[in-house]
Parts: sequence; C-alpha cells; structure tokens
Amino acid sequence: MKALFNATQILKTKTGEMKFNTIIQIVVGLSIAAPAFSQVPVVSTKNAIDIDLSKPGAKVQSSMYGIFFEEINHSGDGGLYAELIQNRGFEDKNLPGGTRLDSGFAIAPSKPNYRSNQNRNFRLPWNMQNMWPGWSVRKDSTRAELSLISEQPLNPATPHSLQMKITSASKADPIELANEGFWGVGLKQGEKYNARFHLRTNGSYKGMVTAKLISADGKTLGQSSLPLKAGSGWNEYKTSLISTGTDGKAVFVLSFDAPGMVWVDYVSLIPDKTFKNRSNGLRTDVAQLLADMKPAFIRWPGGCIVEGLTLENRVKWKETIGDPVIRPGEYDLWGYRNTYGFGYHEFLQFSEDIGSDGMFVANIGLSCSVRNGDYCTVEEVGEFVQEALDAIEYAIGDVNTKWGAKRAAAGHPKPFPLKYVEVGNEDAGVEIYNERYNIFHKAISAKYPKIEIISNHGLNDNLASVQDLDMIDPHYYVAPDWFYARANTIFDNIQPRPKHTAYVGEYAVNRNVGTGNMNAALSEAAFLVGAERNSDFVKLMSYAPLIENSNKRDWQVNLIWLKSDQSMGRSSYYVQKLFANNRPDINLPVILKEKMTVSATPFAGNIGLTANRVQVEVKDLNFTGQENAGPVDFNSWKSEDGKWVASGNMYTQTDTGGRHITMLQKSFGNGSLAFNVKRAKRAGNPQGNRGGGGGGRGGFGNNFAFMFGGTDDKNYYQLSFTPRTVTLEKMVNGTPQYVAEPARLDVEDDRYYSVRITTLNDQVEVFMDDKSVIKYKFAPDIKHYAIAGLDQAKNEIIVKVVNAEATPLKTTINLEGATGINPIGQVVTLSADALTDENTFEQPLKISPKAATYQQFSNSFDMEFKPYSLTILRIKKK
Ligand code: AHR
Repeated sequence: MKALFNATQILKTKTGEMKFNTIIQIVVGLSIAAPAFSQVPVVSTKNAIDIDLSKPGAKVQSSMYGIFFEEINHSGDGGLYAELIQNRGFEDKNLPGGTRLDSGFAIAPSKPNYRSNQNRNFRLPWNMQNMWPGWSVRKDSTRAELSLISEQPLNPATPHSLQMKITSASKADPIELANEGFWGVGLKQGEKYNARFHLRTNGSYKGMVTAKLISADGKTLGQSSLPLKAGSGWNEYKTSLISTGTDGKAVFVLSFDAPGMVWVDYVSLIPDKTFKNRSNGLRTDVAQLLADMKPAFIRWPGGCIVEGLTLENRVKWKETIGDPVIRPGEYDLWGYRNTYGFGYHEFLQFSEDIGSDGMFVANIGLSCSVRNGDYCTVEEVGEFVQEALDAIEYAIGDVNTKWGAKRAAAGHPKPFPLKYVEVGNEDAGVEIYNERYNIFHKAISAKYPKIEIISNHGLNDNLASVQDLDMIDPHYYVAPDWFYARANTIFDNIQPRPKHTAYVGEYAVNRNVGTGNMNAALSEAAFLVGAERNSDFVKLMSYAPLIENSNKRDWQVNLIWLKSDQSMGRSSYYVQKLFANNRPDINLPVILKEKMTVSATPFAGNIGLTANRVQVEVKDLNFTGQENAGPVDFNSWKSEDGKWVASGNMYTQTDTGGRHITMLQKSFGNGSLAFNVKRAKRAGNPQGNRGGGGGGRGGFGNNFAFMFGGTDDKNYYQLSFTPRTVTLEKMVNGTPQYVAEPARLDVEDDRYYSVRITTLNDQVEVFMDDKSVIKYKFAPDIKHYAIAGLDQAKNEIIVKVVNAEATPLKTTINLEGATGINPIGQVVTLSADALTDENTFEQPLKISPKAATYQQFSNSFDMEFKPYSLTILRIKKK
C-alpha cells in the first residue's frame, strides 16, 4: 500500500494554534484518497453548508430504500398477518425440523458446523407442558377432557388436532373452547370477522357449534350458530361475525352445547377488511405503516430463518403457498412457531400491492452457523439451487411452467414483481460460501438473466474465489457512536470503487438506546446521509428488524411496534420514511463548514504506554522530526503503578494484574515515532480474548497501547493492540472515542512488531512491519451531517441536515450555481427534547415529522436547525 507521506517529505509548518483552513491548503498536495463528495466537516471561520448545483453527482437509485420482513417478534403471526387466532392448526408444539426430543431438549443432529468444522450439538430447552398454547376451556374445564392427537389428521402436512371429550354441556351451560389470540383478539365495533374452522365427530355429539366474539369483561360481541354437518370425516365451517364492540383483549370462542366427542382443527378468524381486501390478507394499519414508507423493495423471508437452526428447520418456500389449511408451518428460530400464513405468495402480492419489487432470499444448503450450522454436501447443492429456481419460476415464470401454473391457479396469472434473489443469509466469509455462491450465480443468471443476484459478503471479505459478484450485503447492528463516527467515512473510504455495488440489507442502532430512542434515530440518519452520499456504491438499504408485537420482543430494538389494537412507528421509523419519501434522483456535492479553531497539529504532544493485564516490551523508540529527533530514552518516563523497568534501549512492564500507564512529558510534533513492540504474556485465558468487538473498539480485557498527542493522562490519542485488531482511538477525558476503522490483523504474543506512527499536521498514518495499516485525517468531532440532491421531476433541491448536538445549528446555506430559487418551499422537522426520548403507545407521535412552509429560500439563506433533529428542506428551483 502506498504511504500517505514519507518522513522526508514533511513540510515545514509552525506548530501551535493556527486556523485550520490554512492548514488544509498546506496539505492539499498530499495523496489522501478522498471521494469526490466526502463529507468530513471542514473547520471554518463561519458555519455554512455549501451545495454546488453545478456539479451533479451520482444517481440515487429509485431502489435505494426498501424493507426487510422476517418472522421475528411475532412480526407476521400476531403482527402484519391479519389472522387473529393463535395456534390455529394445533401444530405449535411440533419440534423444530430436524430435531429430536430428549430429556426436555430439542436436539439438533450432531454434525459439523460449516464454519468451525466442529459438532456444536445444538439443543433447545423444549417444554411439553402446555400442549395447546393459546387455547383453553372457559369457566368449568372439568366438563371437557382435552388431548392433542395425531390420528385421522385434517391433512397429512398438519398432523395434529384437538380432541374434546365433552362430558356435560347444554344450551344454557355450553362448553366454551376459547382462543386468546395474540395477547388478545383485537376487535373493532361494526367490523366484520370471517371465521373458518374444521370439526370432526363420531356421531356421539348431537349439538350445535357457536362461534362467538367475547370481550375481556365477558360480554358477547357477536355470535353465529351452525348445526354440525353429517359424517365422521372432517367438515369445514365458515361464518361471519360483526363485532358490537371494540376490544383489544377479546377472545374467540367455539361453544358446544351437548356432550359427546368432537375434534377441532384449523380455526381461523380474519377481519373481512384486510389491506387491499386480499383474502388471507394483512392487517390494514400495519400494512399501511409499511406502505407509507414507499419501500422500493421487500426482502423475504429472512434473516436467520432462511438458514434455520438446522438445515431441516429452514424456511421452505414451497410449504408456504397454497391454502393456508395445508401449510405445515415450522418452528421459527426466534422462539415460536411460524404458521407460514404470510407466505411466499402473500409476500409477492404485498410487494405488488404497494409498488415494491420482491427480493427472495434462498438457502444454499447451510444452516445458521451460530445455531447448529449443519450443511449439505456440495453434491447436494443442486437441490437447493432448484428450490431457488422454482421460487423464481413461481414469481415470474410463464403460466405454462410448472410453478408459474401454480401461481396462476392461486389467482395471479400475471408475473409478480420479483427483481432480486439473495444467495444465502449471513453465511459469507468462508470458502464454502463462495463455492456455493458461484454455483447459484451461474444457475440463476443463466436461466433468469434479469434477476439481480446479491451475495451476503461484507465490505472486507476475501473475494478472491468469487466469480461473478454484482452486489454484496454488509449488515450493521451497532451503538449510536459507531454510526456517528463512521457516517462520513465508511462508504466514502471504499476506494477505488469495486465493480460490485452494495445492498445494506440489515442495519440498526440497537445498543445503548433503550428500546429505540432519538439517539438511535439520529445516528441512523447520520448513517443514511453517508450511504445516500455514496449512492454510486450503495444501491439498496433496509432497516432490521421491521416489526415487533410488543408482547414478544425477541430482538431488543425494532422499527414498528404493535399490539392487538394499536400500531406505531418509533422515531427511527420516521427517519426511514423521511429518507425514502425525500429521495433525490441525483446527488449534489456538499461542504459542511464548522466554525471552530483547532490546533494546527492535533497529533502533537506527549507520548506514553498503557498495559492492561499484559506484559509488554518496547524497544528502539526513535523519533524522526523537527524537534526532539533521535532515540527516546526510557529512563525519564513517569509511572504511578505497574512494574516498568527501563534498561538501555528497552522498556518492559511485567505486572499482568491491572491497567498501568507510563508517560513521558516531552512533546513530539510532526514526524515519525518508530519502535518495536512485543506482548510477552497475557493474564487470564488468552483464547477468551480473541475475536471481534462491537464497533472495533480496542476495549478488550488484555491489550496494550502506545499513546501520543497527549495533553495530560486523560486526553491523548492511542494506538491500541488487541489480539485481532490495531485501533486508533482518541481518549477524551479518559473515555475512548472511535476515530478510524481498526486494522483487522492478528497481533501474536511473543513476537516483535515494528511500528511507525507518522504525523503531519492533520494527518496520521500507522505502519506495522512497514505496511500501512491505518490512515486518519483529523476531523472536527461534531455530530452534524448534511446531504443534498435534486428531485428532477419536481425540480426541487432536497437538503437533509442532521443535528445530533444539544445546541441549535445556526448556519448559512449557499446554493452555489443556482439560477433561480423560489422563496417558498417546505421544511420538515423531526426533533426531540432529549436524545433519550422515545415514542410510546401512550404517545405514539411524540417524535414525528412536522411540516411547515418556509418563505425565505434564496441562493444564500440562514437557517437554524433544532437540537436533536433531522430536517428536510425542499427548495423549488424556478
Ligand atoms: O434482524 C435480525 C437478525 O439479524 C437476522 O435474522 C439476521 O440476518 C441478523 O443476524
């Protein structure tokens, strides 16, 4: 890798305080790789956002903002899917596919995991107590004996039904088999509900069956009685009920008014009014929240559930189509059974209904590596390829094809808008993935050249063996500071641009933000600013997870919350909606100028060392630069604790019992600090400290760091060495802050590394064994982000500004090169009083966009952006 600059090239500059814009001119000739629109804020004498209309940049694809649906948190069953009955087919206690029951555990097959090659022997606690969850006999349950049986099934794919042996019942005192729905059956006054259920008798039951809607306080809100049909086989019953009341905690009841034997199966209650009036449809309020996001695409079915906790447990799309009665469902690895009610057909139909393209995620013969991780052989992969090809054929194949004919038979002869296929989910990073990806890519592109194929590689994966790569899919679940710190660099730094593009298929701030507060929303907005600015590389994005039923939160932070009678968007939902609804067609360059004064040489200062539960040896420390050039003597370093011993050109620390700091009160400016360093011994279990680390922070148990640019023992930069990473951090009052992407490399014990830290004015570059591993250019540490673009159809300039600071951002907006600006336009603001503010069911719109007309837009105008806000300006060009 080419070095940023050599020590011999160091320019002569004054040290000390200096206006930063002067410095920028000094360093302008250096070979820093910056993309055209890099948005790192610029230190200036005045706040300004300069937007250059004369240099339109990359297209922002209409595909940019989509959604990702996965069955998690009861997002489908008990969520988007309109079914009101829980465990409608009495299959909820079925074991996860591929597992067996032993001693209270569902045990996965003992097979090697595709990443580790070790058998994980994955097992789940499996209780066999309540065999018919969701169901109970109201009042006197002693008069009916219930059992779950598998004889004479309604259909082979759904083996279980509920047997009821009713010993005593009458019209005045019937037996009521009740279903509690998903934490309550949600009913609305005046709305019609369609019930469908199946009963079997052996002739011993001579009564009627009555379907009832019953409120939480026991009132009957609707009922319909039906005589039992003749014969000993299964019979289907259908009836409609109109609710006379509104209740989120109602129950649905099948009431039996005589003694005898009755078997019950597939009991369904679906509101007559579904989204776009589809049968087997979707909850109108939830579907509308999604439609309002104007998603360009919908990804389905996952997520980890694509992979399954065993290979057998994966979502098999063919089992998700056809009459819902025959869909077997499957244990959903997020902790409950998926009925497959919102299946492949419904996903495609919903995509069409809201003008989105479909994205299908295919299993490639690998199960989830953090669960069992078992896999098929490469010879068996053909079966999985065929499964994917058949899925495409179902969606877009001619009606004369096998699967196209099934689509037509299901009432949709026209093709569905399936546009993308993703090959596997989160299984890249190993050769076994690349091999399978190549096979899938070849087969899909040969048969369906128009389908866009997505791999799930990350930004830094080894792609050497990948043959045709169109689009990768990195995922980010992070803390807010991770996004704030990287918004200006993460995609900008992908230079030179590779041939492939990126789909950021899953991202969210879900740490340190409660259940999803304004800090999460604003840091995501900052991330989106960075992604949209890099729209030549980032073509598609989708937040995850999308929906939670708040009674069953499997994942800490989710975008949309619902319960049986309410649904709402978190502040992050409004960020998503605002970005998607204000997507420009083309980017415009922005320079974000911050009024501030900073040191001309921010990396100049004292040096030191930290050893945290490790023994460390440093030797041959040498400085090449203007002042203090030459070998650095270790004898005058100050330390308060630890066992630091200077001997000749070597300095050692041998106490592994804590965190020990030593510092030299001597300032070093521009130049190169070179040394050799070795970690000799680590305390505790060294293996336990290996691995990644949320956001690349070097905060592991055992590490050592070289400090430089220090003003005191709490404020400095540090190059931190953990077993797997080398990280450049800034310590601010003792707290580490991320400044640059960590170098992912193994730092072995008992091995000397030669390290060189070279600083020149606002830039620092780190070399290990003469290889450049980190480059960083100083940037003001302020949470302001801005982006601009053109909506060509409306002839409007769209400006998005994130102010995640506690103070208003007062700035001038300069529209450079504008030929005529209509003073009247629109300002939409999403703001909160505190970063910790959240929307709640009680105050669902507490943080929601407020739109206002603005009368004073011009080529150059002043604006004040509220604290903790995302603001969208829509400025009309004349
Ligand atoms: O969105 C939740 C999960 O996060 C997805 O299922 C998986 O792809 C990721 O690990």
